[in-house]
Amino acid sequence: MTAADNSTRKPTVEVLLESDWAAGSLVADVRRGLGTVPRSLPPKWLYDDHGSQLFDRITKLPEYYPFAREHEILTRHAADIAELSGATTLVELGSGTSEKTRMLLDAFDATGQLQRFCPVDVSEQTLRDAAAAVAGRHPGVEVEAIVGDFTLHLAHLPRGGRRMVAFLGGTIGNLYVEERRAFLGALADTLEPGDSLLLGTDLVKDADRLIAAYNDSEGVTAAFVRNSLTVVNRELGADFDLGDFSYVPFWDATMERMDLRLRAEVPQHVRVPGADLEIDLAAGEEIRVEISTKFRRHGIAEELGEAGFEVTRTFTDDAEDFALTLATKV
Ligand code: SAH
Ligand code: AVI
Repeated sequence: MTAADNSTRKPTVEVLLESDWAAGSLVADVRRGLGTVPRSLPPKWLYDDHGSQLFDRITKLPEYYPFAREHEILTRHAADIAELSGATTLVELGSGTSEKTRMLLDAFDATGQLQRFCPVDVSEQTLRDAAAAVAGRHPGVEVEAIVGDFTLHLAHLPRGGRRMVAFLGGTIGNLYVEERRAFLGALADTLEPGDSLLLGTDLVKDADRLIAAYNDSEGVTAAFVRNSLTVVNRELGADFDLGDFSYVPFWDATMERMDLRLRAEVPQHVRVPGADLEIDLAAGEEIRVEISTKFRRHGIAEELGEAGFEVTRTFTDDAEDFALTLATKV
């Protein structure tokens, strides 16, 4: 194919988030999450352009093993996954830079079976850049990107052909257990029997390694979590003073999840005019910004089974730090 042919295959980008999404949907989340005790914010607000760049830096930190371990699994097994799935459409939820997905796309190139790649993310610029890069590298594949929320927009996924939905990185662990159940059920409802899900999950391990992965020595994770308050300041005119918050990551051994919080070090009166809200935070009061649940193999199979999937094969790295589960909709 010539360079001129390549340039004609531009990705399509469908925007399902309304133009005032950041302001509108954030208002509801801020009222619900910050306006009541215990205080929290949903993690999707971590990924404005700056947050997406910070996450990209996290994936390169020596302490943050999940990215490297999932990369190791894909290097070894992308060809098996392409073959076992038989997919002609690859959907990727929370695709970010789609960096690891390149290994899957290369494996699909080798089989020649893939016709369409559909990355889905709330972070529009990151998604557009990733979609353009994939379209340039894989001229035989239609790239149809969707700017959307995977907790709301699964019914809009493309139909037809044999589909595989990749949900990588352990992002499912950022959902609460009831959100996971709703998400997996809604996903199963949009798929046809024989379609598959490729699910990346971080596995339970030694607490010290987990805490190190979320409390890196360069402070990138702390900046990433703090950025959520910058988003609220910018979008809703709030006056959170970031310097008054410390970053508090801890391992919740009962729930088997990392719990990432910001703690007010002094009492604060915060105005959030865009949400018509004023908040009084006591010294020591915390805002939970993210959880990152860690899994066990039997638990993954159980949750998938309840949603209507059957595990086809589970792939892990040598250290058994991370799992990639290929499951088929029954
Ligand atoms: N899959 C990549 C990126 C993981 S970071 C990897 O494995 O490295 C999580 C990604 O999910 C970010 O790009 C973020 O913008 C996106 N995201 C988070 N919540 C989302 C939601 N509710 N809907 C769609 N995308 C979401
Ligand atoms: C995207 N997600 C899987 C990351 C995680 O590990 O839970 C987000 C993250 N938060 C802090 N560091 C990384």
